[in-house]
Amino acid sequence: MTFDLKQHLAQRGRYIEAALEDVLDTRVLPGETARPDRLLAAMRHGALNGGKRLRPVLVFETAKLFGRVDDGVLKAACALELIHCYSLVHDDLPAMDDDDLRRGQPTVHKAYDDATAILAGDALLTLAFDVITDEAVHKDPGIRLTLSRELSRAAGLGGMAGGQMLDLESEHRDRTEAEIRQLQAMKTGALLRFACRAGARLADASDTDIDRLTRFGEVIGLAFQLADDLLDVEASAETMGKATGKDAEAGKATLVGLWGVTKTRAELVRLQQEAERLLAPYGHRAETLAALAGFIVSRTS
Ligand code: IPE
Ligand code: IPE
Ligand code: MG
Ligand code: MG
Ligand code: MG
Repeated sequence: MTFDLKQHLAQRGRYIEAALEDVLDTRVLPGETARPDRLLAAMRHGALNGGKRLRPVLVFETAKLFGRVDDGVLKAACALELIHCYSLVHDDLPAMDDDDLRRGQPTVHKAYDDATAILAGDALLTLAFDVITDEAVHKDPGIRLTLSRELSRAAGLGGMAGGQMLDLESEHRDRTEAEIRQLQAMKTGALLRFACRAGARLADASDTDIDRLTRFGEVIGLAFQLADDLLDVEASAETMGKATGKDAEAGKATLVGLWGVTKTRAELVRLQQEAERLLAPYGHRAETLAALAGFIVSRTS
């Protein structure tokens, strides 16, 4: 029987959804005063609306590769997805990409308003650091500290947020291939890299294994954004659940824009092969991760 990745993703997605539901509950935590209804509703709109959950699945699968599967891993995975969801809420704002549709629904600022969407993003981001420091994430507080620091660096100034700055600046200036690669490694690659690195660390993998999985995360991170940019050119809003054809219109610097579709496809094939080579030492144990790399390269939504 061949491995059914779609079904696997759907099943893992349900676990992640349940973990997100749990942290986005009306229950007021110690140290909190109240959870305003409108802000919580906007956060739930931004997080519980059917994403692919690729980043948390990668945390889960890399931890599993090294023998750890439990609710602590799910917590760490959930923290990363909260940051991803915040990045989308802010990415869609009128001052950024100005998008009305996300995951087939109105974006948070459309369903609520700009100020609420800004605050929902802020609160999703800060909640992520609450969740990643949960005792269940790892028994060693030193590892929890390292994970928190690495998540901060992946998400912030020198990672995703910094990459978003370079992406916005690229609307007004030409970029070289090296500059676009750096921009994409930051805005998209950093969180995918963290996903794979964190999963290996959560399972107490060796430094060699952590480094190998980090490289795997970098390779699929670039592939992921190349596929996103390709789909922006080729796919419809219906299949994507978000507007397409917007990058060229906004003058975004993308490798697809620089290379064209054919060369981008060839680079995606090369990246998939590199990802598979990195997983080769793990044999059939890495079957799911290899299938995920294949999915990232050939995804249609
Ligand atoms: C979209 O990410 C934003 C990019 C980094 C290109 P995803 O395609 O993973 O979005 P969801 O979470 O499945 O909606
Ligand atoms: C966004 O990249 C990356 C983030 C950090 C959110 P895009 O702007 O290309 O993502 P989409 O196409 O809106 O999902
Ligand atoms: Mg953007
Ligand atoms: Mg966008
Ligand atoms: Mg895009």
